[in-house]
Amino acid sequence: MSEIKRVAVIGGGTMGNGIAHVCAQGALDVVLVDLDQGVLDQARSTISRNLDRQVKKELITGEEKELILGRIVTETSVAAGVAEVDLVVEAVPEKVELKHSIFDTLDREAPEMAILASNTSSISITEIAGRTRRPDKVIGMHFMNPVPVMKLVEVIRGLATSDETTGAVVELSKALGKVPVEVNDFPGFVSNRVLLPMINEAVFALMEGVATAEAIDQVMKLGMAHPMGPLTLADLIGLDTCLSILEVLHRELGDDRYRPCPLLRKYVAAGWLGRKSGRGFYSYAS
Ligand code: NAI
Repeated sequence: MSEIKRVAVIGGGTMGNGIAHVCAQGALDVVLVDLDQGVLDQARSTISRNLDRQVKKELITGEEKELILGRIVTETSVAAGVAEVDLVVEAVPEKVELKHSIFDTLDREAPEMAILASNTSSISITEIAGRTRRPDKVIGMHFMNPVPVMKLVEVIRGLATSDETTGAVVELSKALGKVPVEVNDFPGFVSNRVLLPMINEAVFALMEGVATAEAIDQVMKLGMAHPMGPLTLADLIGLDTCLSILEVLHRELGDDRYRPCPLLRKYVAAGWLGRKSGRGFYSYAS
């Protein structure tokens, strides 16, 4: 595998803009793709704001900020965005059919040697890979939110993922200043297999009136030394994403202990998706 120099990030939402940021900061040329030009404009200003914070902390200079931003171009066509890249990192919403259709396009349009990575939180890498003509080059590259801050990249090997592909993604993650941890392909991998049942239980506790949202979060922060409470974290992740992950765990593992809390479903149905929509378990005045 030749060195990874050019990357396309598909989806410019919560995760996509962070992934584009760290890749550009790691000296890669980045094409950030989203169907929605408004999202791309928003992503660019989010990245600029986050880089300003790094300048303020004297982690980078103003000149470096401009260089990093200059490495990111935006594109509204997936086919055009992936035409000349070494790696694609897909970060579209957590919907199985959507991931499959995006990977059909990626497999058709990206160069034959390109690695196709998914930032999926829970969907089977083996199944995504099995639908492509290059299952050895398909892998999970699961960044954590907020991407510029969090160190972990959970690297998920599908059944057919090659050692070469895994090695390239591990090396790239290190070069981006992250700590890669290899795991196997099971629903929710490690991170969300352990995290989401806790978040779901916190929502049940809220629904059953065990305590207020603030009290639940304080118990977990002060009592368990979590940096933020589970309901605050759910709002940060996005309640629609939390629900989608729980649905995958419930369906794929076939155990009712993963059943999504009805209150979580209700919030998602209402469009209360957390920070990104301005309201979830808490309100976020913009
Ligand atoms: P999001 O909803 O914030 O962003 C998704 C973006 O994809 C949107 O901007 C949307 O316009 C775009 N999109 C939809 N269909 C598209 C298409 N066909 N082509 C190009 N762009 C398209 O979602 P978020 O939270 O960034 O999640 C993305 C992925 O990352 C999901 O698989 C999620 O499970 C995973 N993830 C999310 C984390 C989180 O904390 N939100 C943490 C780790 C992984």
